[in-house]
Amino acid sequence: MSLARPEERGTAAMLTRPRLHELDRQDPLAAVRERFALPEGVLYLDGNSLGPASKAMSGRIGEVVAVEWGGDLIRAWNRRGWFRLPERVGARIAPLLGLASDEVVAADSVSLNLFKLLSALLRRAADRRVVLAERSNFPTDLYIAEGLVGMLRDLASGEGPELRLVGAEEFLGSLGPDVAVATLTQVDFRTGRKRDLRRVTRAARDHGVPVVWDLSHSAGAFALDLRADGVEFAVGCGYKYLNGGPGAPGFLAVVRERQEELRPGLAGWMGHAEPFRFETGYRPGAGMRRFVTGTPPVLSMAALEEGLRVFESLDLGALRRKGEALGDLFIRLVDQRLSGFGVSVASPRRAAARGSQVSLRHGDGFAVMQALIARGVIGDFREPDLLRFGFAPLTVRYVDLWDAVEALRDVLASGEFREERHRRRAAVT
Ligand SMILES: Cc1ncc(COP(=O)(O)O)c(C=O)c1O
Repeated sequence: MSLARPEERGTAAMLTRPRLHELDRQDPLAAVRERFALPEGVLYLDGNSLGPASKAMSGRIGEVVAVEWGGDLIRAWNRRGWFRLPERVGARIAPLLGLASDEVVAADSVSLNLFKLLSALLRRAADRRVVLAERSNFPTDLYIAEGLVGMLRDLASGEGPELRLVGAEEFLGSLGPDVAVATLTQVDFRTGRKRDLRRVTRAARDHGVPVVWDLSHSAGAFALDLRADGVEFAVGCGYKYLNGGPGAPGFLAVVRERQEELRPGLAGWMGHAEPFRFETGYRPGAGMRRFVTGTPPVLSMAALEEGLRVFESLDLGALRRKGEALGDLFIRLVDQRLSGFGVSVASPRRAAARGSQVSLRHGDGFAVMQALIARGVIGDFREPDLLRFGFAPLTVRYVDLWDAVEALRDVLASGEFREERHRRRAAVT
């Protein structure tokens, strides 16, 4: 789809609401939005935090409860294939990552999956002792690395591994023969800045360093090709662009060639080669099964599986094109409509360097976002001053960009964000 008419290309032509409407009419993904249960009067730009429910979701969960659990009781573990849900759901995620179906499992949370991979790779690394991470990684990734390294150091009376935190620009220069494993997030949760998976993974490999990528803000937002990019290890979220529901299981990916080399530091009976032999010692299951730890949460797995159905036979290239276009157009509208209101663009302006979100800075960002949410325009806020707008390509319309920017303009122009009610903080921002 062409985003700009020939006469508009390369110019700063003014965008109009009818023009954006026209883009919606041409959008090959427009029909997919109809599969989601989005509330009336709400403009949802937070699918990068929690994806919306599909219309089929409650029916499917009801069916699992009433028919599978209700009817089959414990027999459902075999009859309904519950035991294989980690692999079954992983196989649905795999094409979105550019991997084979036996290279991904759905399990636990991003945090736990990262622990499993970091511990296994640290163990494999023998004499290399450094875990390298970028300071701007999502905090849970840093805490997991800190906890793992701290525990091993305490056990080794301070002689164990070391966590090295570096700035984004220092990362490549910090790779060296002492680094056992590195962990990075592809799309920065604050600014939406997108790392080049291929370039960074190759640079690390030249130093013998495996990288565990956190793809929480990538999977389902745009097509990935991990195999082609040489990525061997990844984790990611099920509740954002994969629409698996609040607290949905995460995923863990390891390319086939590396699976048998790894022994997870978080070994549980469901990842054992033969769990129902109840042996005393742990023997890792074949392939990705070893990364399953405890009993899969069946209702949450069923929800994630249902959320992923929306991606069946979707043109994944269209995801990226629309995500980029939404971000580009939003930035153009911000430039066009919000100059003089104390707002600046915090995300890369170049689409190739950006995930499917745009963050804006405003000195009173928290209150501005609360005022927007009160108007039904839902984004979120990240400290200290970031207004985040997520453009999930399956559910956001082009015309929503116009309406969101106009609402933001009203909030800023009227000063309504200064009202006391927009300053109250809840537990989740
Ligand atoms: C990049 C990234 N990693 C991890 C998480 C959270 O991980 P978990 O599923 O363990 O809560 C988030 C949550 O927003 C995230 O943005």
